[in-house]
Amino acid sequence: MFCNKIVFLSIGFAIGLVLMIIGGILIPIGDKIIQDTINKEGVLEEGTLAYENWIQTGSPVYRQFWLFNVKNPSEIMNHGAKPVVEQKGPYTYRVRQLPKDNITINDNHTISYQQPYSAVFQPNMSAGSEEDRIIALNLAAAALQSLLPEQIHGFINMFLKKAKASLFQNRTVAELLWGYEDPILKLVHFKDTMTGIFYPYNGTSDGIYNVYTGKDDIRKVAIIDRWMNKKKLTFWNDSYCDMINGTDASSFPPFVHDKKKLYFFSSDICRSIFAEYEQKQILKNIPVHRFVVPPQALASSVENPDNHCYCKDMSVSENCTFGGILGISVCKESKPIYISLPHFLYASDQIVNAIDGINPNKEEHQTFLDVEPVTGFTLRVAKRIQINLMFKPSNQINILKNITKPTYFPLAWLNETGTVDDETAGMFRNSLSVE
Ligand SMILES: *[C@@H]1O[C@H](CO)[C@@H](O)[C@H](O)[C@H]1NC(C)=O
Ligand SMILES: *[C@@H]1O[C@H](CO)[C@@H](O)[C@H](O)[C@H]1NC(C)=O
Ligand SMILES: *[C@@H]1O[C@H](CO)[C@@H](O)[C@H](O)[C@H]1NC(C)=O
Ligand SMILES: *[C@@H]1O[C@H](CO)[C@@H](O)[C@H](O)[C@H]1NC(C)=O
Ligand SMILES: *[C@@H]1O[C@H](CO)[C@@H](O)[C@H](O)[C@H]1NC(C)=O
Ligand SMILES: *[C@@H]1O[C@H](CO)[C@@H](O)[C@H](O)[C@H]1NC(C)=O
Ligand SMILES: *[C@@H]1O[C@H](CO)[C@@H](O)[C@H](O)[C@H]1NC(C)=O
Ligand SMILES: *[C@@H]1O[C@H](CO)[C@@H](O)[C@H](O)[C@H]1NC(C)=O
Ligand SMILES: *[C@@H]1O[C@H](CO)[C@@H](O)[C@H](O)[C@H]1NC(C)=O
Ligand SMILES: *[C@@H]1O[C@H](CO)[C@@H](O)[C@H](O)[C@H]1NC(C)=O
Repeated sequence: MFCNKIVFLSIGFAIGLVLMIIGGILIPIGDKIIQDTINKEGVLEEGTLAYENWIQTGSPVYRQFWLFNVKNPSEIMNHGAKPVVEQKGPYTYRVRQLPKDNITINDNHTISYQQPYSAVFQPNMSAGSEEDRIIALNLAAAALQSLLPEQIHGFINMFLKKAKASLFQNRTVAELLWGYEDPILKLVHFKDTMTGIFYPYNGTSDGIYNVYTGKDDIRKVAIIDRWMNKKKLTFWNDSYCDMINGTDASSFPPFVHDKKKLYFFSSDICRSIFAEYEQKQILKNIPVHRFVVPPQALASSVENPDNHCYCKDMSVSENCTFGGILGISVCKESKPIYISLPHFLYASDQIVNAIDGINPNKEEHQTFLDVEPVTGFTLRVAKRIQINLMFKPSNQINILKNITKPTYFPLAWLNETGTVDDETAGMFRNSLSVE
């Protein structure tokens, strides 16, 4: 993800050289010296300087979680009161520490790999312990409503009663994030009785990627050719929404233009998305370009007609006029999971106003990428998303009888961050300012 020291050193040196030649005014895009260095060292191929760091990122990547603790569980369930939540966190885990796995170099300038998932708790970067208790939505109770056909909701109700299940539950942070055995799923003999917001995680992966090495054409480096052996997604039943675009966002092809969108694919949200140039930033004295995921990317199809195929359920989205929320049940075995930005940033008022304790603001809750424009490397990233579960009023399921309307209920949000380390940044900086 973040570049190898030596890559920085040599590319940085080339840039330094050019700066020296032209007096530090502009970096001419496509300059021969840089172009040659990048053509050679930017390729994902055994023996190049970019390769080693691509296999295993040098700089640490963290996932920080904030969970929503529910303050008025019985009022919501008994009287349909407006939910009041408060966030608790961060609970920080180091992720992406394992090297890429099952790497196969193909003879058509592509390379295949898998990124195994792992998460290791970092107590010194967390607000509490993994054993902290949270009053959260009862995941299984809320999900079964959408998972199973209405004809058998009477049976679900019976099992919920038998399990003494409520709409809310008291669980630890570790249980909610990574999984616990659920009494309801056990009673109904569900095929997997474990559940959790990110269950299963450790030891799994998000599938096989096949990406271009850039050997024949550096403009294609790191661009995804196939994911799970397919050139397109199969979730959305639409040629536009099913596109697999761009890279995985950890790097982009070199010579990044401010005027162009950066496309990337994220398996967490089951779709391709884009970021737009916002401003210049200085990161550890290195000039980088900040790209942000704009409101338009998650807007309703009324505001952004491109998004029409991401709306799959007219009944819970006011005929697809809701923006800032993405239903991903199509790729989560029909579980009613909805993705948004943290605190429903940029989402429709009806969604934000349905919950008390939600305070979106751009600075804290947007997703951004700080990209070094010559090399295309992402030197700092904050990928922020929120996971919500939707439940609806029901005549047959007792714990949902007094609910008044479909509710997008926030479970947790996360900030996945990585920043180029000081040592690497220092070398890059020194090379940039060659006198
Ligand atoms: C729903 O409201 C009715 C009438 O106020 C009450 O009798 C019932 O217990 C409530 N249901 C639940 C699950 O709290
Ligand atoms: C990936 O490699 C592991 C061993 O390292 C192997 O057990 C697994 O089956 C491989 N997966 C695929 C999809 O090839
Ligand atoms: C390259 O080869 C791999 C492995 O044979 C294949 O899966 C992939 O589709 C090929 N890609 C292109 C662009 O031909
Ligand atoms: C994942 O596996 C690692 C290494 O085996 C372990 O240290 C970590 O605690 C596990 N994380 C979770 C969330 O289970
Ligand atoms: C937290 O602890 C880890 C070792 O577990 C250490 O590597 C890291 O530097 C510490 N971070 C902070 C911010 O203290
Ligand atoms: C959650 O459960 C723990 C342990 O059973 C208990 O100490 C705590 O009071 C409970 N929290 C609430 C809000 O009920
Ligand atoms: C997929 O879309 C086509 C029209 O584009 C429609 O006829 C078909 O029913 C859809 N299939 C599913 C499974 O939604
Ligand atoms: C995919 O990329 C193309 C440009 O290459 C763009 O026009 C299209 O909007 C993107 N699709 C998605 C789903 O982001
Ligand atoms: C959605 O569209 C249907 C059919 O056009 C209409 O009857 C219904 O009132 C609309 N619902 C909302 C919430 O706008
Ligand atoms: C991630 O984002 C949150 C919210 O803006 C912020 O509090 C936190 O410091 C960020 N994490 C890192 C490592 O920058």
